[in-house]
Amino acid sequence: MEIKVQITDYLVVGSGIAGLSLAFKLSMLGEVMLLTKKEHSDCNTNYAQGGIASVFSNTDSFDSHYADTLKAGGGINRPEVVDLAVKLGPKLILELTNSGIQFSKKTDGQFDLGKEGGHSFNRIVHARDLTGQEIESGLINVILNKDRLKTQEGCCVIDLLIRDRRCVGVVYYNEMNCNLFACFAKAVILATGGIGQVYKYTTNPEIATGDGIAIASRAGASIASMEFVQFHPTALYPSIIEGKRAFLVSEAVRGEGGILKTADGEILKINHPLGSLAPRDIVARSIYFYLKENQKKYVLLDATSIDGEYLEKRFPQIYNKCLSYEIDIRKDPIPVVPAAHYICGGIDIDMNGRSSIPSLYAIGEVAHSGLHGANRLASNSLLEALVFAEQAYRHIESSRLKTPEVTGLKALFVNEDKNQLFDIQELKEELRETMWKKVGIVRNNKGLDEAETFIRKWTPVVGEAYDKTRFDLGLVELRNLFEVAKFIVMCSRMRQESRGLHFLEDHPERDDNYHGYMIIEDTTI
Ligand code: SIN
Repeated sequence: MEIKVQITDYLVVGSGIAGLSLAFKLSMLGEVMLLTKKEHSDCNTNYAQGGIASVFSNTDSFDSHYADTLKAGGGINRPEVVDLAVKLGPKLILELTNSGIQFSKKTDGQFDLGKEGGHSFNRIVHARDLTGQEIESGLINVILNKDRLKTQEGCCVIDLLIRDRRCVGVVYYNEMNCNLFACFAKAVILATGGIGQVYKYTTNPEIATGDGIAIASRAGASIASMEFVQFHPTALYPSIIEGKRAFLVSEAVRGEGGILKTADGEILKINHPLGSLAPRDIVARSIYFYLKENQKKYVLLDATSIDGEYLEKRFPQIYNKCLSYEIDIRKDPIPVVPAAHYICGGIDIDMNGRSSIPSLYAIGEVAHSGLHGANRLASNSLLEALVFAEQAYRHIESSRLKTPEVTGLKALFVNEDKNQLFDIQELKEELRETMWKKVGIVRNNKGLDEAETFIRKWTPVVGEAYDKTRFDLGLVELRNLFEVAKFIVMCSRMRQESRGLHFLEDHPERDDNYHGYMIIEDTTI
């Protein structure tokens, strides 16, 4: 298949809050191409209910946000990154409001700050329970009016183009016109989001197949902290049994007074002074152990003590979704279970969003900045995305990046041989099931070994099938999912302790020999 060549100044991959806000800023410096796999709005940002954590209240302080972030993160956050993020937060949120994004306000015109797990103060800036949608549609409106910003939907990035160890562009497949492109750029920014689809139950949309992490690692970028997968404690149980993307019931419901209870209506035992509002790792594990020991399918999130009218107004999306399952959250407790939600690890970056490959940046969930340490504090993810979009922008603005030469392209021969020895969908489900059972909320070395054996067996088979029929999107994603699963297992095997989101039954305590990050430079298992 012939490759069509394109040249731009800056190439951004991914259209969540990180990709959109950086693309917008970069369009002030030059031409920008923004590639997105499905539609613009099909990203984790769009499903974010909670909001953006930031210090706006007079009683709150940067020190407190800093301390809460470090505490949730098991002490291995990069302190300079936490300091940067908490301090830049207010300015970047005000930039969003200046571009027309509307967050919920009180009658005095101040932000209506919500509360979420692990936060000492109300500091979540939100748009009711539709924060992600409000940000996403606001940013899409802003970028659509930019002449120098070209966006393309239905484009799946296959691999990076590397020359002399520098990233000079990407190869991507455009599903709309069935063409293969090599796009060269001064800088490539991956903002492709998370990996939730590697787990059977996830709050993430179907596009969250870890593409950015897999693509960067194949090009030799360092990948870090992949053992720290966050399971959100409260996904709506009926949505899971229907086999759909798990619908999130925001932590903000607990912030407003919702309480976790057992299936029999007793207060759920959570070994933490903040109870239902403890950090997510602790709440998710408490639910896991309760369900296992009592052979139950779900716990209950009881919000019935909150004023019904307020509840309906504050959480319209959750109210309506639950009602579609005949659950009236004003009167009925909500059946919930944990589901994979967020990866704290990813492409290792510095304070400017740079990966270990020159001219390759990574921002948002795809990146490992060190902000979250071993467990992300609620609503710090949108914050991180904004902060690193700004940092990468500043760095690119002050760097003299050169347009690369267009060299070294060959036609790629595609053999349309679809007779692979497996069914893509079936194998994907088997991988997701394996990861859920063996590399989930609670892990042990035996389970990790079994997952590793499964991944070892299938990775070369999937790789060979991919080589034969390169542009089957299902295979591209499956290959990426296996790559990401491999990293999660590798990092989990390396960390022979329990810390934050990584709980290993063989070593249930923290061990300070493991204080620091697992960084993968050699990606062979
Ligand atoms: C939530 O609303 O509970 C999710 C917010 C987040 O992931 O930080």
